[in-house]
Amino acid sequence: MQQEIIDWFETGGRDLPWRQPGFTPWGSLVSEFMLQQTPVARVIPKLDEFLTRWPTPAALAASPSGDAVRAWANLGYPRRALWLHACAVTITEKFNGQVPSNVDDLLSLPGVGPYTARAIAVFAFGGHEPVVDTNIRRVIARHNQGNADQGPPSTKRDLEAMAALLPTPDLSPAFNAGIMELGALICTARNPQCEICPIARTCAWKNAGYPEHVGPKKTVQKKYEGSDRQARGAVMKILREAHRTVSTSELNDCWPDKAQLGRAISGLLKDGLIELVADDSYQLPA
Ligand code: ADE
Repeated sequence: MQQEIIDWFETGGRDLPWRQPGFTPWGSLVSEFMLQQTPVARVIPKLDEFLTRWPTPAALAASPSGDAVRAWANLGYPRRALWLHACAVTITEKFNGQVPSNVDDLLSLPGVGPYTARAIAVFAFGGHEPVVDTNIRRVIARHNQGNADQGPPSTKRDLEAMAALLPTPDLSPAFNAGIMELGALICTARNPQCEICPIARTCAWKNAGYPEHVGPKKTVQKKYEGSDRQARGAVMKILREAHRTVSTSELNDCWPDKAQLGRAISGLLKDGLIELVADDSYQLPA
């Protein structure tokens, strides 16, 4: 399957900013943080803004973390902006301003987990590592394991399954990116396009006649509408747009359920995404 995927990726892969020649390791780090929980189409314009404003880790480290949170805008899960800022500080102080290239150093950075560390090692530095995201897990579940979908994630098992498929080191980046892209574009969760899939011939799931999924189901995302996460988003929006401190009474109008609003504010304080300045005024972190 490896060569088929690599050949398909050359013409079938999208022209995404992080695949352009000259894209920096810092750009890879920022884009992977943004892509963790946000779709490609929403990431692209924000990524460009972010990298224009902060082209290096040292540039971001020199700004207040609240500026990174504000620039994160509506990408969601804003703790990622705080972690990215903390990464910039660590890279500047401990790694001489250069994004490290090996997995262990990358894993030592705030907010960098097994996926992000390997994605940077492979896509920014050409490393020979298994990258595992949801799309890759689905392709392996179907093509190699004959199952309709990936089950719940298991870092150890998933890394082993992908490591077993890696081709020679020189082909590792193209294979990792290609299988991820195949899962994003062709072998999709709801509507796989087997007619045009480059590895349909050897797909265990297809060849078994598309059996129903067996085993534990993949985890489903919680509803956003009416959630505590949406309440946090409403508070963050006011503080991002205010460019000054905001009082509790001003925040009161942004969310109808006061108990939920209280939980949102205390959660954001605890996460360091907002700061209490006077007795009842808040601002983004300085
Ligand atoms: N290429 C490298 N990382 C990616 C990601 N997270 N999503 C889509 N394409 C990518």
